[in-house]
Amino acid sequence: MVSLKFLVCCLLLGSCAYATLVSHDGRAITIDGHRRVLLSGSIHYPRSTPEMWPDLIRKGKEGGLDAIETYVFWNAHEPTRRQYDFSGNLDLIRFLKTIQEEGLYGVLRIGPYVCAEWNYGGFPVWLHNMPGMEFRTTNTAFMNEMQNFTTMIVDMVKKEKLFASQGGPIILAQIENEYGNVIGSYGEAGKAYIKWCANMAQSLDVGVPWIMCQQDDAPQPMLNTCNGYYCDNFEPNNPNTPKMWTENWTGWYKNWGGKDPHRTTEDVAFAVARFFQRGGTFQNYYMYHGGTNFDRTSGGPYITTSYDYDAPLDEFGNLNQPKYGHLKQLHDVLHSMEKILTHGNISTIDFGNLVTATVYKTEEGSSCFIGNVNETSDAIVNFQGTSYNVPTWSVSILPDCKTETYNTAKINTQTSVMVKKPNQAENEPSTLKWSWRPENMDNVLLKGKGESKMGQLFDQKVVSNDQSDYLWYMTTVNLKEHDPVWCKNMSLRINSTAHVLHAFVNGEHIGNYRSENGKFHYVFEQDAKFNPGANVISLLSITVGLPNYGAFFENVPVGITGPVFIIGRNGDETIVKDLSAHRWNYKTGLSGFENQLFSAESPATWSGESVPFNRTMTWYKSTFKAPLGTDPVVVDLLGLGKGTAWINGNNIGRYWPAFLSSDDGCSAECNYRGAYYAEKCQTNCGEPTQRWYHVPRSFLNPDGDNTLVLFEETGGNPSLVNFQTTRVGTVCANVYEKNVLELSCDGKPISAIKFASFGNPEGNCGSFEKGTCEASNDAATILTNECVGKEKCSIDVTTEKFGAPECAESVRRLAVEAVC
Ligand code: GAL
Repeated sequence: MVSLKFLVCCLLLGSCAYATLVSHDGRAITIDGHRRVLLSGSIHYPRSTPEMWPDLIRKGKEGGLDAIETYVFWNAHEPTRRQYDFSGNLDLIRFLKTIQEEGLYGVLRIGPYVCAEWNYGGFPVWLHNMPGMEFRTTNTAFMNEMQNFTTMIVDMVKKEKLFASQGGPIILAQIENEYGNVIGSYGEAGKAYIKWCANMAQSLDVGVPWIMCQQDDAPQPMLNTCNGYYCDNFEPNNPNTPKMWTENWTGWYKNWGGKDPHRTTEDVAFAVARFFQRGGTFQNYYMYHGGTNFDRTSGGPYITTSYDYDAPLDEFGNLNQPKYGHLKQLHDVLHSMEKILTHGNISTIDFGNLVTATVYKTEEGSSCFIGNVNETSDAIVNFQGTSYNVPTWSVSILPDCKTETYNTAKINTQTSVMVKKPNQAENEPSTLKWSWRPENMDNVLLKGKGESKMGQLFDQKVVSNDQSDYLWYMTTVNLKEHDPVWCKNMSLRINSTAHVLHAFVNGEHIGNYRSENGKFHYVFEQDAKFNPGANVISLLSITVGLPNYGAFFENVPVGITGPVFIIGRNGDETIVKDLSAHRWNYKTGLSGFENQLFSAESPATWSGESVPFNRTMTWYKSTFKAPLGTDPVVVDLLGLGKGTAWINGNNIGRYWPAFLSSDDGCSAECNYRGAYYAEKCQTNCGEPTQRWYHVPRSFLNPDGDNTLVLFEETGGNPSLVNFQTTRVGTVCANVYEKNVLELSCDGKPISAIKFASFGNPEGNCGSFEKGTCEASNDAATILTNECVGKEKCSIDVTTEKFGAPECAESVRRLAVEAVC
């Protein structure tokens, strides 16, 4: 196998001194012969900036991760065939080296189909436009391109000696992605394709195992792994494959018009603990840091610019507490049991009512889990002579099979409430001063002039190769007054798959349309005024992220796919004039983009006079000073419609605050008990889908002026736009007795203790109240003395410290609310 071949090879070449041998033996991934418990987290390099990477990865390490997992994004790296880009946040090698420098392992999911809510699932659109092309099947053209890109990535990584077999950090590589979910749609060819993928990957000789996720017919030696909210029931197809979980979804992604999904900390911890209770050894959080879909990278249709994902690190890189801390404690406990978990004999005791204990036993000792999968009842379990209280939907971990050191539903970590602070840069006025320019549309609206002409309506991907969100479809229609369609009431009817559509007749905006509720195929009809003689019809089709998932998603039509009709109505009679086979002129992109109005170097002139509001197709520009300090910066785009924003020429993504999320299906309370699903715990109902946009510090000039440019497509009011910073404002905790409470304002001093009580306090963060019993010593004074003025403090939650309140020992808790 890999290992032997590698050994022979490195002995011959004499260059194996630091190589790490990664293999697997049925039970676990082994690294240099040792079975490992591996905790990993996904951080996608293009969804943050190189300046953010060390901090994010270090936080991963401090959070108890062993490894960082990333996909590789083909369409970002090869935007045009055989022209590659690895600059800036696409510097994959720099990202992998940062992982190495921070002392973590890497998991490289090359795909190169990745899904990932990434534009077109990572496929370049030029690939779709190659002759005879069919994706993800035994199509020679496809296989050649896939192999070409995969090989190139492997070669780049090998050249830098980044595989563990070469002494680098990468311990696992992935080929394809969840093909098993769709293989049925590809018939026999699908089976042959997956074999080809396996052989191709294997031939690249990376010296570390290859994985295929959600592939229950994964050909050997591919390791098939699980993705989902829960993977404890997963069994790999080969008894010699360790039980591995490549995607534990820590939350979910968001669509335009959708709400903010939240997955509770208790439930994520429960899923992880269950997985390890039931023999798992490798687990990866998808996402650990979700980040931002900058520029046009979001998938879709309709994935938002934010890819926060409710991950342990928030979009801006702040700790999402208590998720981050509660999982860190879980990782520490699991790591402390590594030897026993990966070598022990496993036995299970069933207590009924969905309660089970699992004992891992070696000669050196044993470790135990008690799981309660019941959704409605707590369990009192008598286990090996001791009684344990295992709350509903939770797992208790007893590293020595006696003492419960962790329960997934008992959170002893602080909750952080984030706040936004106004830009405090010197002399920064509270409102920005704007100048503007109209988008120049004369050629397209009045002349219908494009770059290419065809006697047919084409899919947008085919015409514009996804070089822009925008494609103009234009045609000129000569109408005579004796034309059968000519009458008083005429309209334009468009069968469309444009995600968003704007229609103009003779330069007049007759209307626009945005797809809603997942229906991207619709009929748009508006009255229009036609003239005798030539009439110019200009239709602007706009994409908002190309699809990224499902069998044959690459062929889902987009654009003005037609037919397009002029409709005449004369009394009861309807006359239809089909324009579909007319001569259509096409123009990709908008002139302001072509002229780079967003760039600092653009010579264009802007006007500060009568800056218009609610005007469609309008460019706005303003300058501002960078907010002081190092806290992450966000820009509030409330009041705007839809468009794109740039900071000093850097595209920070599509914005669309005018798109409100629907106002049903939110709940203030979120019950962690019972299986999670994406709609279970949502917030932000009836609000702009996304109001705040991340401005990475590295996009800003800390001393001089900075430029914000907006392209406003549907019309908006920029007067509310402002820059803020985001950081922890309040921290709360509600910690059980005999635990240690760590309070931290993440690098800033704790300024005051607003509430503290040791006993049976009630309520939640922001609304704590003293309970019926309380300790004699004043908890607030103790905390004030030990924490105020410090960046963090650590408090033993014991009766020695606070005095003994007269409530049952099992319920004693310390509740704290501190101000940062
Ligand atoms: C999985 C896929 C990931 C991501 C995830 C949802 O099916 O493998 O790439 O799309 O779903 O966030």
